[in-house]
Amino acid sequence: DYQSASEIVLFGALGDLSRRKLLPALYQLDQVGLLNPESRIVAVARQDSSLEDFTEFVMENLTNFVKEGLNDDVIERFKSRLVYQQLDFKDTKAYKNLADTLANGHKTRVYYFSTPPAIYGDISDGLKAAGLITPADRVVMEKPIGHCLESSKVINDQVSRYFNENQIYRIDHYLGKETVLNLLVLRFANSLFTNNWDRNSIDHVQITVAESVGIEGRWGFYDDAGQMRDMIQNHLLQILSLLAMEPPADLSAESIRAEKLKAVKALVPIDRSNVKDKTVRGQYADGYLNGNPVPGYLNEEGANTSSNTETFVAIKAEIDNWRWAGVPFYLRTGKRMPAKHSEIVVHFKEQAHNIFKDSHADLPANKLTIRLQPDEGVELQMMNKIPGIASQMHIQENKLDLSFSDTYENQRVVDAYERLMLEVINGNQSLFVSRDEVEAAWTWADSIIDAWKSTNEAPKAYAAGSWGPVSSISLIARDDRQWVE
Ligand code: BG6
Repeated sequence: DYQSASEIVLFGALGDLSRRKLLPALYQLDQVGLLNPESRIVAVARQDSSLEDFTEFVMENLTNFVKEGLNDDVIERFKSRLVYQQLDFKDTKAYKNLADTLANGHKTRVYYFSTPPAIYGDISDGLKAAGLITPADRVVMEKPIGHCLESSKVINDQVSRYFNENQIYRIDHYLGKETVLNLLVLRFANSLFTNNWDRNSIDHVQITVAESVGIEGRWGFYDDAGQMRDMIQNHLLQILSLLAMEPPADLSAESIRAEKLKAVKALVPIDRSNVKDKTVRGQYADGYLNGNPVPGYLNEEGANTSSNTETFVAIKAEIDNWRWAGVPFYLRTGKRMPAKHSEIVVHFKEQAHNIFKDSHADLPANKLTIRLQPDEGVELQMMNKIPGIASQMHIQENKLDLSFSDTYENQRVVDAYERLMLEVINGNQSLFVSRDEVEAAWTWADSIIDAWKSTNEAPKAYAAGSWGPVSSISLIARDDRQWVE
């Protein structure tokens, strides 16, 4: 039941994101029958290229990146949707050519900006000048939206001159992940959790987003950003806000986004006065992954040997509201960690009284683990009696484990971009980030970045293939807690 036909206009169609994620996501939508037969994919890029060459480029990338394999009939249909348009993004007059290309198409246009954000404004100017913006059109913006609060405002202002907020879809692809979406269901469809999701029942929360990859040939880009801007300001804060927000009245974009915003706004600011106690920045040094030597950040190709950019961040975040007073959210994320491993662990409070003392049993607190990726699933650590006749009860910590791949064996785990692309086509903004949220997240992140700058300390080294600098262990150990590994 696809929506009416639309033109999907990809700016930066030859770029990395387009190759790896956007074109494969569109193909998958086509394959499962969710792309209107009339919809076209209009690729826009600076390079002069023929449609034949572009089609070849698409085929090569679909072959590499569509995990489930390609289907001949779908391929033919998909190819027939492709259009290629060369464009100098900064040349406002040249958008006339794009207007000609789009003239025979359909009314609703989805403009996907997958270019450096600094030119989102130029593209918007060009589209406006060529009469290519109507209230039905939508624009999708990739992160990073800016480098700080001020620069994000500039970009948002430039785009909002011509597009209303309800036409703007700011992507945070973590919001398209199956397991991140499932947070809503876990929290609000299970009274067990709904009724115990606050400071009375929860001791603390850990959010880990670890990657084994390094910076994958994009040293210059990454070095400008660092892990705080690349991951915490967006992905980790989005996860945190879904975990911490008050129940939204319904699933509409307005309700969900308003509650997430309140959670981010309630984050206790971290500044010069407390940055040393509450944060750790790290940078990976030479080390080993799966027994193979890997270079440190400063020894990567293209590296500038004096960079102070962080590739790891750990933060003790606190939320200043009734629900979460006194419950820390420990965040950590880094490159070149031992494995790709993202999970949330909710540590419940310990049992107030232990009647099993005579069995010399400690009662570790219950833990709810939400495995975001890979091996998606949910697991609950709980105490259980070991079967046996002995009059003294032997008890043990064990887990209820709901593995998505075992439980939903025949269900494909949809890629985040595929879901988000469909939501844009369907005009649903719930899984996209509002301007207010972006700005609140920058406000919090900027204060930390400024405080780091003012202390002028180099990031702490950690060996590639390790779980981060030792001080990230102390960050949580000071509170008599430890990271779950
Ligand atoms: C991107 C970051 O937004 O997310 C990358 O720019 C990071 O640095 C990536 O590797 C991680 O995404 P995923 O979906 O692989 O967890």
